[in-house]
Amino acid sequence: MQNEPYALIIRNAFIIDGTRAPRFEGELGIRAGRIAKVGKAPGELRGARAEREIDAGGKIVSPGFIDAHTHDDRLLLSSPDMAAKVSQGVTTVVSGNCGVSLAPMVHRSGPVTPPLDLLDSGGSWYRFPTFAAYFEELASNPAATNFAPMVGHTTLRVMSMDDVGRPANAKEIARMQVLAREALASGAIGVSTGTFYEPASAAPTAEIVEVCRPLAEFKALYVTHMRDEADKVIEALDETFLIGRTLGVQVVISHHKVAGLPNHGRSAETLAHISKHMASQPVGMDCYPYCASSTILTWSRVGGASKVLVTWSNPHPEFSGMELSAVAEKLGLSLEAAVAKLLPAGAIYFAMDENDVQRILKFERTMIGSDGLPHDAAPHPRLWGTFPRVLGHYSRDLGLFPLETAVHKMTGLTAATFGLADRGVIREGAWADITLFDAQRVAEGATFAKPIQPAHGIDTVIVNGETVWREGRSTGARPGRHLRRVPTRA
Ligand code: ZN
Ligand code: CU
Repeated sequence: MQNEPYALIIRNAFIIDGTRAPRFEGELGIRAGRIAKVGKAPGELRGARAEREIDAGGKIVSPGFIDAHTHDDRLLLSSPDMAAKVSQGVTTVVSGNCGVSLAPMVHRSGPVTPPLDLLDSGGSWYRFPTFAAYFEELASNPAATNFAPMVGHTTLRVMSMDDVGRPANAKEIARMQVLAREALASGAIGVSTGTFYEPASAAPTAEIVEVCRPLAEFKALYVTHMRDEADKVIEALDETFLIGRTLGVQVVISHHKVAGLPNHGRSAETLAHISKHMASQPVGMDCYPYCASSTILTWSRVGGASKVLVTWSNPHPEFSGMELSAVAEKLGLSLEAAVAKLLPAGAIYFAMDENDVQRILKFERTMIGSDGLPHDAAPHPRLWGTFPRVLGHYSRDLGLFPLETAVHKMTGLTAATFGLADRGVIREGAWADITLFDAQRVAEGATFAKPIQPAHGIDTVIVNGETVWREGRSTGARPGRHLRRVPTRA
């Protein structure tokens, strides 16, 4: 029906379609949640009727951004407006990273094992014994954004083992495999690991391979916060490639970085190594645009950083946002004693080199992922700032790459890597996940000193055809869906 009215027409836009093709002046017609018409010449939709129209005023219309790396498993339920994300133009989040997923896990009593406390330090949100139960809750209480979830190996270990300080035995591996298979069969897109963290660091390669066996039958992903992102980063990369080859599945290297002063500059070496392997097996990677990292507070990480900021502390919430050295001074304690007093806690570590961050961001196959920690009292600014910082600071201001490349790294490339069909591109028939932004003004509002701030220059954000963010605030719409993986290659 050609004359059927559109639900929405966006006129007077410059369209960046997510494929890295140059922008063009055009218009979009949206109907039933999808892009029904891409007008490639201005005025092509002149006679068309719509229930609603947006005049883009010559600004950019692009696919909604896909956050390749999040810890939003619980945020989707506890803050379904997803303001931290939609305010940046994000329309889909990939959740369950770094070995940590909210399901399948039922917390009984006592403290939550770090790093599972990144999602909930109290434990009451850990109440989904299966992925199916988690999805059911999200289907009856949808969020503003779409989500593509993974199941975490660390979560499986904590659920299946009485002592996570050793390799799993055959019985425990079998138990974890059953849980992993249930998650994948219910619609998880992969398994994530966090072998850097204590509850998983005792897992040998063979255990990971066995737990991840079901990945092959579902053609799902192996996504990893590797054992080492510092001195032994090459060995950690090799373990990742080996696991991918053994299982015959695609791997994704999470938040690629080289940490610690002695390793500054080594991204040239790691990227060459990754490139070499990309030629013979499917490999993806993501990165956040900052030279400070953030995770739980641990003494072992403090030494490698030039500065440490406290992001949360259960016993001492009053120190959130302060420098660790200032906390130690105030308490009259050594740094190590101050860390012990704050635990369980989170921190920001300044331990990367800006040149490495830029080299990794610029690498052709790097996707943008925030790695934001939404439940921290004073979070790393990447939670609210990642996407506008890439578009504004790195693309426009520093000229690290063209805007079309920046958009591709957060849309088309990401959708192709994770197998999110009809997402991440502006094309007739694709889902209408759309971000309208001002290329001149787009910038992060969040800073290390004031991290909870919406971005500048993000005008309108649309998910499945419904507007979720407009004029600097959430609209209240919650059209988010569970996205499954449709693999395009083995
Ligand atoms: Zn991680
Ligand atoms: Cu992470």
